[in-house]
Amino acid sequence: MNCSVQENLGFEIAELPADSGGDTTTPKADCDRISSNKSTDGLILVVDDESSVRTTIKAILKKAGYLVNTAEDFRSAVELIEKNDYGVVIADIILPDASGIDVLKYVRGVNEETQLITITGDPNIDTAADAVRAGAYDYITKPIRRDIFLAVIKKAAEKAKLLRDRKELEAQNLLYQKHLEKLVEQRTEQLKASELKYRTLFEYANDSIFLLDCPSGKIVDANQQAVLMTDLKWNKLSGRPFWFLDTTSHPTELKKFCKETINKGHCHLDDVHLKIKGNKVIRADLSAKVVELGDQKQVQVLVRDVTEKKMLEEKQREMEIDLVQEQKLASIGMMASGIAHNLNTPLMGIMGLSQLMIMKLGECEEIKSIIEQANKISTIAKNLMFKSRSEAEKMVVAVDINRLLREELKFLESNLDFKHNVEKDYQLHDPLPPIQAVYSDFSQSLTNIVRNALDAMYNSSTKRLTVRTHLEGDSVLIDIIDTGCGIPKKNISQLFSPFFTTKPIRGDETEGEPTGTGLGLSSAYKLLSPYGVKFDIDSKIGKGTTFTVKIPTAQATAKNKDRIEEAGIIG
Ligand SMILES: Nc1ncnc2c1ncn2[C@@H]1O[C@H](COP(=O)(O)OP(=O)(O)O)[C@@H](O)[C@H]1O
Ligand SMILES: [Mg+2]
Repeated sequence: MNCSVQENLGFEIAELPADSGGDTTTPKADCDRISSNKSTDGLILVVDDESSVRTTIKAILKKAGYLVNTAEDFRSAVELIEKNDYGVVIADIILPDASGIDVLKYVRGVNEETQLITITGDPNIDTAADAVRAGAYDYITKPIRRDIFLAVIKKAAEKAKLLRDRKELEAQNLLYQKHLEKLVEQRTEQLKASELKYRTLFEYANDSIFLLDCPSGKIVDANQQAVLMTDLKWNKLSGRPFWFLDTTSHPTELKKFCKETINKGHCHLDDVHLKIKGNKVIRADLSAKVVELGDQKQVQVLVRDVTEKKMLEEKQREMEIDLVQEQKLASIGMMASGIAHNLNTPLMGIMGLSQLMIMKLGECEEIKSIIEQANKISTIAKNLMFKSRSEAEKMVVAVDINRLLREELKFLESNLDFKHNVEKDYQLHDPLPPIQAVYSDFSQSLTNIVRNALDAMYNSSTKRLTVRTHLEGDSVLIDIIDTGCGIPKKNISQLFSPFFTTKPIRGDETEGEPTGTGLGLSSAYKLLSPYGVKFDIDSKIGKGTTFTVKIPTAQATAKNKDRIEEAGIIG
C-alpha cells in the first residue's frame, strides 16, 4: 500500500528516533519487549504490508508513550494476537493474505476489549461502514494526520482500558458475590444447626414450655411435653389464650399471672390448678418471663407438673395425722377402759354393801335404788370397756347402727350446750340389719358429722338436731339434719378435701365459737369409702343442712368378709 506522507497533514519522518526506522521488510513481526500475556492497554499492534507505514506509525506511537508491535500480514498478526493482549490494533484494510476486517473479527474472537482501527487509502463509504459494522472503533483515511491519529488512538486506548477495568471489576464482583454466597450458605447451615439444637432442647425438655404472644397472651408455640401434659393436640392449643387452662374455682388466676409477667418481666406461681382435656385438673408450679425474640416480645412460661408430688406429700401428711389420731385414740381408749375397770371394784363394794344392808334391815326402796343406779354405772362401764377395746383392736364386729348412734349421742351430751340448748329429735328405725364393720370407723365418722351439725347451729336461734335412720332396699340410710347456717354451693365440692374448713383454728376463735381442722369429713370419707358408703348433702343457706349417709349393707359385709373370718366373728 502506498502511504502519502504530507508534511503539514501527516507523519513527520524527522521525528522518528534513530533505532525505529529500520522496519522495512523483515522481520514480518516486530515487537516491543513486554512480558507476554500481560494485559497492556497501552500495547498497540500495527498491521500493514507497507514497511514505511509500519515504521512511521510505530515511531509516532512510541513517542507518544505507547508500546508498539507491528506485523506485515494477517498470519503474523494472528500469531501476535494469540500471544499478547492488545489495547488497540491498527490494521490496513487491505493486506496481502486477508483484509483488515478479518483481523478485526479475529481480534474480537480473542479479546472483546481490544479496539480496532482500520486504515484505508480508499475512503469509500462501504469499506468504512463494513469496518464499523464489524465492530471497528474507528477508521482513519490516508493520508493520516498525526494529531487526529493520536487523538483517535488515545480515545481507543482509553476505551480499551475502560472496558478492561470494567471486566476486571465484573470479575471481582463475581468473585465477591460467590464468596458472599458461600458465606451466606455457611451461615445458613450454622443457623440451621443452632436452630436444631435449640429446637431439640425446647422439644425434649422435661417441663412443659409455652410461648405466648405479648400482650395478647395467645399461645404461639408449645413443646411436646406441653402437648402431652394438656392431652390436647397442637391445633387445640394454638392461638388460645394461656388462661383457657384456668379452672372454674380459680377463673382468673392465670390471666392475672400473665398480666403480672408482662408488667414485671417475670413471675412465679406455685401449686396452681390447671384444667386440661376432659376437665381434668392437674397441679403445677409456673415460672414465666418476657423474652425478646428478634424485634418481638413474647412470654415464655415453664410449667412443672407437681400433681403426683403434691398428692404424695398430702398422703404422707394424712398418714402422719392418722398416726397421731390413732395414738391419741388408743391412749384415750386405754385410759377409759382403765377407769371403767377400776370403777368395778368400788361398784362391787357398793352393791355388796347394799345387799348386806337389805339383809340386815329388810327390803328398803332407797337401798334398791342404790343397787339400780350402781347397776347402771356398771353397764356404762362395760360399754365403755367394749367401745375402747373394739376401737383399739380394730375388730370387725356386727354393728347395730341405731345402738351406735344412741351411744355416740349420749357421749356428746358431755357438752352442756348440746345437752341443754339443742332440741333433739331421734327417729331410729328398729330393727336395722347389722353391718359388719370396725366399730370405730362408723362411730368416729358419724360423730364428726353430728359435731359439724352442732357447730353449724352455733349462731342459730332455733337449734334442732334430727337424727333419722331407715332402710332403703339393702341400704341403711342415716339422715343428720340441723337448723344451722347451711353450706354455700361453691364449698360443697371441697367439703371432703383434707384441711378444708370455714371455721377458725384453735386459738383464733371468739369465746365459745367452734374451731376446725378441716379433717372431720375427709377422715369420714376415708374411713367409710371402703364400705361403699355414699354421702349426700342437701343444704339451704340460713335454713340448715341434711347430711345423708348411705350404707349398702351387703357390700359392706362383702368388703369385710376376710377380716370378719380372721376375727372369727360371723355376722
Ligand atoms: N352441717 C353443716 N353445716 C354447715 N357447714 C358444714 C356442715 N358440715 C360441714 N360443714 C362445712 O364443712 C367444713 C369441713 O368440715 P370438717 O371436715 O368436719 O372440718 P371442720 O369441722 O374442722 O371445719 C366445715 O368447716 C364447714 O364449713
Ligand atoms: Mg368437723
